[in-house]
Amino acid sequence: MNTYNFDEITDRKHSDSVKWNTSVIAALGGNRDAEPFWVADMEFNPPPAVTEALKNRVLHPILGYPADSKRLVEVFSSWLIKRHNWRVPKQDITFTPGILTGIASAIRVLSKEGEGIIVQTPSYNPFYTVIEKSGRTVVRNPLLQKENSFSIDFNNLEKSLADPANTILLLCSPHNPAGRVWTYSELQKIVTLCETYKVAVIADEIHADLAYPEVVHTPFSSIAGNSISVTFMAPTKTFNIAGEKAAFSIIPDPVIRDQYKTFLESMSLAHSTIFAPIAAIAAYEHGYPWLVELLAYLHKNMELVDAYFKNNIPELELITPEASFIAFINCKKLIPLLPEPDKNPITFFSKEAGVLFHDGSWFGPEGEGFVRINFGTQTTALQNALERIKGAVWKLREKT
Ligand SMILES: Cc1ncc(COP(=O)(O)O)c(C=O)c1O
Repeated sequence: MNTYNFDEITDRKHSDSVKWNTSVIAALGGNRDAEPFWVADMEFNPPPAVTEALKNRVLHPILGYPADSKRLVEVFSSWLIKRHNWRVPKQDITFTPGILTGIASAIRVLSKEGEGIIVQTPSYNPFYTVIEKSGRTVVRNPLLQKENSFSIDFNNLEKSLADPANTILLLCSPHNPAGRVWTYSELQKIVTLCETYKVAVIADEIHADLAYPEVVHTPFSSIAGNSISVTFMAPTKTFNIAGEKAAFSIIPDPVIRDQYKTFLESMSLAHSTIFAPIAAIAAYEHGYPWLVELLAYLHKNMELVDAYFKNNIPELELITPEASFIAFINCKKLIPLLPEPDKNPITFFSKEAGVLFHDGSWFGPEGEGFVRINFGTQTTALQNALERIKGAVWKLREKT
């Protein structure tokens, strides 16, 4: 028996959501009426305890400056034990208003202008922006694609790590958009290489809580030994509260941690809004059973898409994710069938099927020929979208 109803639809059309903003939808795919399956937030209400806690706070009308919450760090450290079996000294944990803010700050602490930061591509696009706008250089280590899974090119990674111009590896773990939960042995290899070449690791683990039950996510700093590492985690993807900027850094090295905290203070970034800690505490304290049911629901949605493509639209192939609610779809067999001149799967799905995906090329040239689906939605919405895609592709087949 399920406790939570992920089939419940909440209309977000007039809720200030970027995902549902018709001007944005029109600009991205050319059809303002397309249904959004792009940006990475889900169509599910957060755990009821989160909404309840926020509602209770709003009943007090004065939203003055909040005191720093010690409980927040305590609750997060208990979560790390419960979800990741990872015991972290509380002093290693620092609240940060958003993962990207944290990454940008850690980059400034751990590197100098002009230095290279290694990224496994295709990559979540804001990584490129944050690196380049900080005056550092993106060093690409393209992932290898075999059948329908991505893996790390360790030979090329070692070459990049061995170059003294490159001082940070920005590791997305689990990887967005490749959907990989890096194995313990893959991560061990990275630790060894980074120790050898004295390269610091910034691990973005925003999708870690969403690893499916058949795989184990290993937090990078839990195995990094004496090498320099900063691990970021957040409740935002996990509990669908991404608009509330909240994240945590875990920095075992006391010197780097102090430098990181000083940097946050220098930019006045050390404090949260009044709502973020309330939502995060309620989520971590009460959200575990909700997360267990969410993962089962997401896994079924993912299997539905995979099977639907295999049975009905073999021109499309899902790159099966091991975590989270987003996945790449390989469209390389579809593209030759698409009309000239642009042969663009995004505009095709948007205009012909009323489905807006995220453009694979947003993740870099390695993402060309792919789109990214967000299947964190009601199964019926997904089924309807798949039917519309089937109709559009079958019509295309008749024409060619
Ligand atoms: C890998 C990754 N990092 C960071 C973020 C954004 O995090 P935040 O909103 O906390 O800056 C996202 C959002 O999609 C993401 O996928």
